[in-house]
Amino acid sequence: LFAGQVEFLKGVVAMDGLPPADRAEVCFAGRSNVGKSSLINALTGRKALARASNTPGRTQEINYFTLGESHYLVDLPGYGYAEAPVAVVEKWQRLLKAYLSGRQTLRRAFVLIDTRHGVKPVDEEIMRLLDSAAVTFQAVLTKADKVREQDREKVLEQVRAALARHPAAFPDLVLTSSEKGDGITTLRAIVAGIA
Ligand code: GTP
Ligand code: MG
Repeated sequence: LFAGQVEFLKGVVAMDGLPPADRAEVCFAGRSNVGKSSLINALTGRKALARASNTPGRTQEINYFTLGESHYLVDLPGYGYAEAPVAVVEKWQRLLKAYLSGRQTLRRAFVLIDTRHGVKPVDEEIMRLLDSAAVTFQAVLTKADKVREQDREKVLEQVRAALARHPAAFPDLVLTSSEKGDGITTLRAIVAGIA
């Protein structure tokens, strides 16, 4: 699975633009700039498949990628602070929420959390939405390379405690670095195992 099997399909700006709900899909959600697009690139081994940048608010559409014949990977716009006009941000936030709570074929949401920052109130808001919609979600810590090993445990504890309060959350954490490759094989195996 993965290598050579992922292609960009389309960018979606409204719910009626979603592709037919004919495949299982997994999505990557998280605060702006947390590393969603970079993680998709690392998972697929394709450097510039999803556009990543240092500007929060880079991804402004729901980007669909086909994975083999049976799955979609979905790169979402971020939530929280973004460098874009307020009206534009509000439009994509509405779309993001509609998608997360209303996509029947969404099998799992990966909720990305920056290892430097832990779970923030906006993450809690998204996790509550996923609870309400009964969408199973799994936390993925990003940018692990930016935190020294001895400083990670504190954040991991905070994230575990937060997840324990959400019925739709998987308890296990995946620690990743798209830059260094940590956790990528593990996460790839998890995605591949989602029916
Ligand atoms: P939006 O689309 O704006 O919501 O952002 P995003 O969550 O898709 O983040 P993106 O992948 O664009 O990455 C944001 C910035 O973080 C870029 O400058 C990346 O190079 C950097 N980045 C992403 N992952 C890592 C990582 O694992 N380690 C380090 N050091 N930097 C990373
Ligand atoms: Mg992005």
